[in-house]
Amino acid sequence: MPNAVRLPELTSARLRLRPLDGTDIDALFAIFSNPEITRYWSSATMTSPADAKALLAEIEDLQARGELMEWGLERREDGALVGTCSLSNIDLDNRRGEIGFALGRFAWGHGYMREALPVLVEYAFTTLNLHRLEADVDPRNASSLRLLESLGFKIEGHLRERWQATGEIQDSLFLGLLAREWLGSSIRVADSARLSDSASDVPSANTLPQG
Ligand SMILES: CC(C)(COP(=O)(O)OP(=O)(O)OC[C@H]1O[C@@H](n2cnc3c(N)ncnc32)[C@H](O)[C@@H]1OP(=O)(O)O)[C@@H](O)C(=O)NCCC(=O)NCCS
Repeated sequence: MPNAVRLPELTSARLRLRPLDGTDIDALFAIFSNPEITRYWSSATMTSPADAKALLAEIEDLQARGELMEWGLERREDGALVGTCSLSNIDLDNRRGEIGFALGRFAWGHGYMREALPVLVEYAFTTLNLHRLEADVDPRNASSLRLLESLGFKIEGHLRERWQATGEIQDSLFLGLLAREWLGSSIRVADSARLSDSASDVPSANTLPQG
């Protein structure tokens, strides 16, 4: 992708999807220093806040090159950073990108990611006009697979022994979601309705200002 797309702020009922910055280093470290979060992740568990600083620098670099869009998930109620979600490997020529996400351990079990991802998917298929979204998930990562399948992602392939960044060789399940599947799905309609019902001041993703 030749030019970076400036990261827009998106909103859902309980969350603000916003750019990460230097004030998030402690929160990022708190999230990614927990081995439960990085159990099926593609990079090692953080051991010091310097790792979070390096991650932020890498995110900024990839975003400037237009290869990544990464949002912090800020809980609107109290401003806490509960997680992150991203579009990586953005390829505008082939109109595809890869979705990634993580929640701090304290934020599991509240439906935050199930709420955030439809906003991200909607943005990817409408504003960015992508044709296909992909996800690469360890076959043992049951909660991520449940989440993605609830959005309509389909398992397309099993790649053996693809990752070893965490010190353990891991397989990948590759999942895909096509724009026409999302745009025509009852999941999308139900989510849009739920989002607009639950907070009248929350704009839908495709009416949000772009960068
Ligand atoms: C993947 C991950 C984000 C899932 O977290 P999660 O809290 O289970 O996901 P959600 O935010 O969608 O919440 C769904 C859970 O909240 C519950 N929930 C509570 N209130 C809810 C609500 N209002 N709406 C929806 N679900 C709700 C659901 O029942 C579900 O729990 P269950 O799985 O026990 O049935 C989390 O496990 C994680 O960060 N893992 C580490 C990073 C990772 O592996 N990322 C993927 C790499 S590809």
